[in-house]
Amino acid sequence: MAEQTYYIDEDVGEDIASQAGTESSPYKSLGFAVLQHGDSHQFLTRKSTTGTVPEGSDSSAKLEWKPAAKAALKKAKNYAQQQQKKAAREQELVARRTKEEADRKKILEEAKKIVIEEDMSLPKAERIKLDVTDPKKVKLGNGTDVRGTRVRVFGRVHRERRQKEVMFVTLRDGYGLMQVIFTGPLAKTYDALTLTRETSMEICGELREVPPGAHAPNDRELHADYFKVHKGWKAAGGDDAITNRVSKDTEHATLLDLRHLTLRGETASKVMIVRDTVEYAFNQVYRELRMRKVSPPALVQTQVEGGATLFKFDYYNEKAFLTQSSQLYLETCLPSMGDVYCIDKSFRAERSLTRRHLAEYTHIEAELDFITFDDLLDHLELVICRVVEITMSDPTIAKHVMELNPEFTMPDRPFKRMKYSEAIKWLAEHGILNEDGEEHKFGDDIAEAAERRMTDVIGRPLLLSHFPVSVKAFYMQKDKDEPLVTESVDCLVPGVGEIVGGSMRMYDYDELMGAFEREKIDPAAYYWYTDQRKYGSSPHGGYGLGLERFLAWLCKQHTVRDCCLYPRYFGRCAP
Ligand code: 4AD
Repeated sequence: MAEQTYYIDEDVGEDIASQAGTESSPYKSLGFAVLQHGDSHQFLTRKSTTGTVPEGSDSSAKLEWKPAAKAALKKAKNYAQQQQKKAAREQELVARRTKEEADRKKILEEAKKIVIEEDMSLPKAERIKLDVTDPKKVKLGNGTDVRGTRVRVFGRVHRERRQKEVMFVTLRDGYGLMQVIFTGPLAKTYDALTLTRETSMEICGELREVPPGAHAPNDRELHADYFKVHKGWKAAGGDDAITNRVSKDTEHATLLDLRHLTLRGETASKVMIVRDTVEYAFNQVYRELRMRKVSPPALVQTQVEGGATLFKFDYYNEKAFLTQSSQLYLETCLPSMGDVYCIDKSFRAERSLTRRHLAEYTHIEAELDFITFDDLLDHLELVICRVVEITMSDPTIAKHVMELNPEFTMPDRPFKRMKYSEAIKWLAEHGILNEDGEEHKFGDDIAEAAERRMTDVIGRPLLLSHFPVSVKAFYMQKDKDEPLVTESVDCLVPGVGEIVGGSMRMYDYDELMGAFEREKIDPAAYYWYTDQRKYGSSPHGGYGLGLERFLAWLCKQHTVRDCCLYPRYFGRCAP
C-alpha cells in the first residue's frame, strides 16, 4: 500500500474505527494509528490544546504537526502487535467455545439415541436400602472370579463426578450412602451426561469390594448395569441447582427459609436421624422401667409454668391455651396406670431469642408414684445414662454422634450433685455475677449465661437441687427440714445448661390450696388436679426433659433450633 500520512492529536483525537486519521479527523494515540494501518506510513503528532508554547514564540506554535519520534513509533508498533495477538487469542477462544457447544449439542443429541434396557438374563436384582451390609443378604464380588450380589437401589444423587468415560455417583437414601460406577453406554446416555445433584435414580448392578487403596461407604461400590431416571425424577440444574440455593456460605435466615433443603445436608440429616434413635431410646428405657406411655391433651385451660409464657387462643368462644407441660395430667394417671410418661409437644410464648428456647418443643415428661426425692435423682441419672447407652449401641448412630461431637464421652454415674445454696457460693467464688452485675445471693434466679458458665467449668452433667420456693413453680413440695427451699432439681449439662426440670409434688390438699392462693391462681379450673389430693394422695414426683436441648448436648449443636425439623421460635412459624 502506498505510504500515507496519518494525524494523531493527543488532545482532541479519538481512537475509534470511524476516525479517518486525517488532519481534520485525527486519532488520539500513535499505537491505535499503527494498529489500524501498519507502521510503514508517515505519522504526524501534536498536542493541540495543552502543548506548552516556548516563551516568546507565537502561540500558534502549539498547533504544529511533528513527525512521530522513532522511539514512540517503536512503542506503538509493540502495542499494535500485542493488540493483534490478543484479538487473535480471543477469536480462537470464541471459535473453540462455539465448537465445544456444537460438539456438546451433537453428543447430547447422539446420547438421546442411547436407550438402555435392563438385561433380563442377568440374576434377579435384590431390592435393598443403601446401608444393608448383612452378608446373608449381600455378597461382594472381587471383579474377577467372585461375583457379588446383583441389587436394585433407589436414592438421590448426593455427589457426582466424571472421569473420562466413567461416571461416579454417591447415592443417598436416608439410610446410607453408596458409591455407584457407570461405565460404557450407561455413562454416555443423555440422563448420565446431564445428571444433576438430588436427581432421583433407580439403579441395578453388582456389588463389589472397593479396589485396594480406594475409599467408599461400607468399602464397596455398585457396578451399574442398568439405571433409570423416571419421569419427574430429575432435579433442577443451572441457577436453580440445589448447590446454588444452599451452601456453607448461605445466610442463616435463608437456610431456615430453605430448611426443607438444608435438611438434606449431612449435618442436619445426621442430627435428625440421631433424634429418631434418642426418642426411641427414651421409649425403650421407660418400657424397661415398666412405665406406661400416655398422651395428654395439648389444648388446655390451665397453666403449669406461669402465665407469662402461655399461648392463648379462642376455643369455641372460651379462653384456652396451648399446653406448657403435661405434668398435671400425668399426675392424674398415677392411681390407675402406675408410673407414666409422655413424649409430646409443649408450647412456650418465649419472647427472647436464645440458643435454647423454642416456642414449640418436644417435652419428655415422666411422673413416678410413691418415691422420695433421692429416688427421683437416681431415676434421672439412670434414664439419661441408659438413653445415651442405647443410642450409642447402634453403630451407625454412634458414628453420626462422634462425627457431630468428636469429644463426646459417656456420662459417668453418679452425676455431680449440688444444692442451689452451694451453687450460689460457687458462683460468688468464681466471680460469675448475676444479671444485675452483682454477686449472686440466695433467692436469685440463676440466669442462663451464669448457669452455662458454671456447667462449662464443671464439665460434666450436674444435678442442681433445692431451689428456693420463690423461684420455682407453685406445685413443688417444700423440703421438710428447710421450708424455704423445694425438693426440686435441674439437670445441667456442658454447652447447653438446663436440660431437665423436675421436683417432688406438693401432695397435701391444704398446702396445695395455699400455694394456689400464694400464686394468685384461681384453683377452680384445677379441680381435677386438686382432687388427686382428695382421693388417695401419695408422695410423687417427676420431671420434664427438653428433647432438643438433650440433642444439642449429645450432638454438640449450637442451638436447639438445629435439633428440630422445622423450628418454631420468636419470630418464626414457617415453613
Ligand atoms: O423446667 P420446665 O419449665 O418444667 C416443666 O415444664 C415441668 N412442668 C416439667 C415436669 O416436671 N413434668 O421445663 C422442663 C424442660 C426444661 O428443662 C427444658 O429442657 C425444656 O423443658 N424447655 C424448653 N426447651 C426448649 N424451649 C423452651 N422454651 C423450653 N422451656 C422448657
